[in-house]
Amino acid sequence: MGLLDKHKAYAEAYQTIRAAGADPFNIQFEKVISPTEGVVNGRPTILLGTNNYLGLTFDPACIEASAEAVHAHGTGTTGSRIANGSFGGHVELEAAMARFYGRKHAMTFTTGYQANLGLLSTLVGRGDHLLLDADSHASLYDGARLGHAEVIRFRHNDPDDLRKRLARLKGSPGKQLIVAEGIYSMLGDTAPLREFVEVKREMGAYLLVDEAHSLGVLGDKGRGLAEAEGVEDDVDIIVGTFSKSLGAIGGFCVSDMDDFEVMRVVCRPYMFTASLPPSVVASTLEALRRVEGEPALRHRLTLNARHLYEGLKALGFAVGPQASPIVAVACPDQPTAVAIWKALLAKGVYLNLALPPATPDARPLLRSSVSAAHTPAQLDQVLAAFTEVGQAFGLIQAPAARKRA
Ligand SMILES: Cc1ncc(COP(=O)(O)O)c(C=O)c1O
Repeated sequence: MGLLDKHKAYAEAYQTIRAAGADPFNIQFEKVISPTEGVVNGRPTILLGTNNYLGLTFDPACIEASAEAVHAHGTGTTGSRIANGSFGGHVELEAAMARFYGRKHAMTFTTGYQANLGLLSTLVGRGDHLLLDADSHASLYDGARLGHAEVIRFRHNDPDDLRKRLARLKGSPGKQLIVAEGIYSMLGDTAPLREFVEVKREMGAYLLVDEAHSLGVLGDKGRGLAEAEGVEDDVDIIVGTFSKSLGAIGGFCVSDMDDFEVMRVVCRPYMFTASLPPSVVASTLEALRRVEGEPALRHRLTLNARHLYEGLKALGFAVGPQASPIVAVACPDQPTAVAIWKALLAKGVYLNLALPPATPDARPLLRSSVSAAHTPAQLDQVLAAFTEVGQAFGLIQAPAARKRA
């Protein structure tokens, strides 16, 4: 009996996928040329699975800020902020995030994953209730497991189900924290935040929104879904990441809650891990300036997202419920999904293969994330590849057959 025997079923499933050729969970880019182009297996490849929503990873100002910081302050902080101190950049970045969101407090984390671990395990505890949307990201589920609150899942994006579950808790002591995401990471759909806010008010609960995929994407100022829906005042805590539209790595939360600073000495995923390196802090600050000063990036992203979403939908693919920078195509079964993923890669299109249990409704998904940096020509090339592969695997019909049907 080996230590890893308990993972046998996964090991076998993974082996089956690898036996089909390329390994979707361990792909290597021989070169990354730009936010949207790389080289995979010696072939020029369009990158369509990177969450690089604004294409800022190669932004000259971000790169320069990062390089300057590494020269000035070194490669790493080599410790946590409570034990080993903060660098000036950490404090500056938190001030910038607080200002951007118009909140009193901001706290940064080393990843978005850790921000969620930290918040969900600290904001609620024994005797409290955590109401999680069923399609929540793994980091939210893991944060719930790290803490001691009772976890109640409500049906994805269903305010009535949320209300029903909260009503059952009426009279029980403890706090209730509702958790939703701005844009859901698998299907690209947004949360019905206005309705959630109504429920929250009615029931006296708190609301946390994870804007990981919506910061820099939604809202007039790019603050995310709460801004776009005009409900920011009703959201108690916003959490997010620097690893997507801001093109780096790191997590954050912002809030107006009194005494929020106590989080720095009770939140273990903040306290017991090394802080963000200066280079990352500097590029993130610059990327945030770009989000604030260049709404054109967001507008281009919206146009590109519609281009791909409407294009795939018109071809007959089963896409998600709304146009968004995350465009997912549902596949009938895992072998077909793996084969299509591989065929698209062979045609120079890299996107994500997402398999159950990580997907809603246990459906395999081909998940794309569109960037403002994609050109219309690249997106047309992607649509052409999808057309050929989709027809070859019977996911869509040829145009003539579609007309007859
Ligand atoms: C909704 C959501 N929250 C949090 C995270 C974690 O962010 P990070 O990758 O920066 O740790 C992700 C990552 O994909 C996510 O999709």
